[in-house]
Amino acid sequence: MEKVDVLLGLQWGDEGKGKVVDYLATGYGVIARFQGGPNAGHTLEFDGKKFVLHTIPSGIFRKDVVNIIGNGVVIDPIVFSKEVDEITAYAGDIRDRLYVSSRAHLILPTHKLLDAAYEKDKGLSKIGSTLRGIGPTYTDKISRAGVRVGDILQSGFKEKMKVAIAKHNKILDQYNAEHLSDSQMMEFYAGLDVLRSFKIVETEYMTDAILSKGQRILAEGAQGSMLDIDFGSYPFVTSSNTVCAGAPAGLGYAPARTGTVYGLFKAYCTRVGSGPFPTELHDETGEALRKAGNEFGSTTGRPRRCGWLDLVALKYAVMISGVDKLIMTKADVLSGFSKVKIATSYRVGGKSTQELPFSLSADEIYPEYTEFEGWGELKDVKTKEDLPATFNEFLSFTEKYLNIPVMLVSVGPERAAIIEME
Ligand code: GDP
Ligand code: IMO
Ligand code: MG
Repeated sequence: MEKVDVLLGLQWGDEGKGKVVDYLATGYGVIARFQGGPNAGHTLEFDGKKFVLHTIPSGIFRKDVVNIIGNGVVIDPIVFSKEVDEITAYAGDIRDRLYVSSRAHLILPTHKLLDAAYEKDKGLSKIGSTLRGIGPTYTDKISRAGVRVGDILQSGFKEKMKVAIAKHNKILDQYNAEHLSDSQMMEFYAGLDVLRSFKIVETEYMTDAILSKGQRILAEGAQGSMLDIDFGSYPFVTSSNTVCAGAPAGLGYAPARTGTVYGLFKAYCTRVGSGPFPTELHDETGEALRKAGNEFGSTTGRPRRCGWLDLVALKYAVMISGVDKLIMTKADVLSGFSKVKIATSYRVGGKSTQELPFSLSADEIYPEYTEFEGWGELKDVKTKEDLPATFNEFLSFTEKYLNIPVMLVSVGPERAAIIEME
């Protein structure tokens, strides 16, 4: 019996999961998404092309790799069918290598209207949601009112849709929000036809059979630990468990079958949307990071907030998920900064702590930093022997603080721009 390795973002998302999963995919043969939905935007760059995936796992461009969308994912058929078109135009038909869980929940067009209505109602305290319908869809799942992918193959589907939409309309009325238009509904049904043309199965049996055959699976996380519904900066989080514990529930394998847990982090921090961000830089250094890292949302295009690496938050994420191996991305972005900082503790109520407090509010937390010398260009570095000494100091400080080795350092967006450290 083999195991499921799990790859997670350890910060506020956008750590480079798409790039790294695509890189690791050939060593696996099976890649599976277990939570989130089209709020995710996972970027892959190879052969001079760039693709942003929202629902489909990042192993899809590897012809010999099987991809699974697990039961924990929420699927918008409209986004899904656009994604299928884009991938197919480049890579040909993907129906032979993509499986969708019958138990995954559907994002209905009214879920997106509800998302917008709730955010508008929150005013200044809005979450900064991607407005992809994530929160309302998971709300319906938990309150046992959702519609699942498997339902689209059942005779009672139309009736189920009617009940769900009628309920949504009642809520929309309370918020004085508009109902669904006919064209939105038609687009949804066209998307459903595409979804129906894929293999819709009980993927938990597939997962079990794959592991029994002695093949390893890589589970691809979406978002990041600080956006986790339980352990993130609540309420400024997404509506799923983005930590390792989300993987067995979102794919249907036994927790004891979890193998290596890979934790990804950028050499600095970014966040898109609202909510606390202790090491955020509101000055020209933050602006320089945004520019150098091209930090604009892959899903919404919004500018990402930028700040220094936060080891207090990172250590917390490592603890919650039991991370075994670290992967550092975007190390090249810090090239050219004369000094680089890392937050190593927080001052809270006059005391220094390395633990993440209940509230991350900016008027209660003051990060304490250790400063490092900057380093030159990394983008052409191919081996660990060629890494500059100043970068190695930054890296080994991080490894010691977290007590875990860094196995890969990514130094550019392209598939090949990665340095093996082991
Ligand atoms: P994900 O959501 O974790 O998959 O990350 P995103 O794709 O949303 O954002 C990461 C962005 O950084 C994308 O534009 C990637 O192409 C890019 N990227 C990934 N790794 C690196 C890297 O090591 N260096 C640089 N400069 N860009 C990277
Ligand atoms: P990937 O997988 C970065 C953020 C949103 C918002 C909050 C809630 O690409 O790393 P939601 O749409 O879930 O209601 O938004 O979470 N968010 C992300 N930020 N990367 C993501 O995914 C994100 N998915 C959601 O900006 O603050
Ligand atoms: Mg992203």
